[in-house]
Amino acid sequence: MAKTNIAVFASGAGSNAQKIIEHFAGHTGIRVALVVSNKANAGVLSIASKNNIPSLIIEKDVFFKGNAYVDELKSASINFIVLAGFLWKIPQRLLEAYPNKIINIHPALLPKYGGKGMYGHHVHEAVLSNKEKESGITIHYVNDKFDEGEHIFQAKCEVKEDDTAESLAKRIHELEHANYAKIIESTLSVLGSRQRRTGSYD
Ligand code: GRF
Repeated sequence: MAKTNIAVFASGAGSNAQKIIEHFAGHTGIRVALVVSNKANAGVLSIASKNNIPSLIIEKDVFFKGNAYVDELKSASINFIVLAGFLWKIPQRLLEAYPNKIINIHPALLPKYGGKGMYGHHVHEAVLSNKEKESGITIHYVNDKFDEGEHIFQAKCEVKEDDTAESLAKRIHELEHANYAKIIESTLSVLGSRQRRTGSYD
């Protein structure tokens, strides 16, 4: 049977992308087939090249006002899109081409600490200044609003009294690394069994 081809969209260091690539290396049914980035110098691009995974650098105009790279993704036979540190909003055209097949990871317990501008250290600083006792991660489907799609998975961790944004970020990253690839795999297996039953991924 044909493999499911994932595209990982990432614009940062790419530590989650790295874990996802490692998890699916040699997998019989799922392959990371493409890394997509909006930054030509993103760390994730060297991770892609070290792992012989093709990459695509995208431009704002084409993404938001052109074809949203749907043709390129379809011609690379991409079936599923995973956002891992990708900050642009996903345009309608791409959402329609991949219905319920785009997921994201957010470094907090949504619906708290989500939305435009809530990324990276901004999230952790807000969590600390509100004196939260716990934080965590949320893996969710992507829709046309930042961080508002249906939740797939959450995991929690403690916020310590002496935490800084950096120490909390480290704990959250560990949670992400331990869970994201596994949740991608289980989500794809649910989609795959639905496809076998109905003949369609949708
Ligand atoms: C992660 O914390 C993720 O939650 C967020 O962006 C960050 C990406 O980190 N969406 P990395 O580039 O994978 O290290």
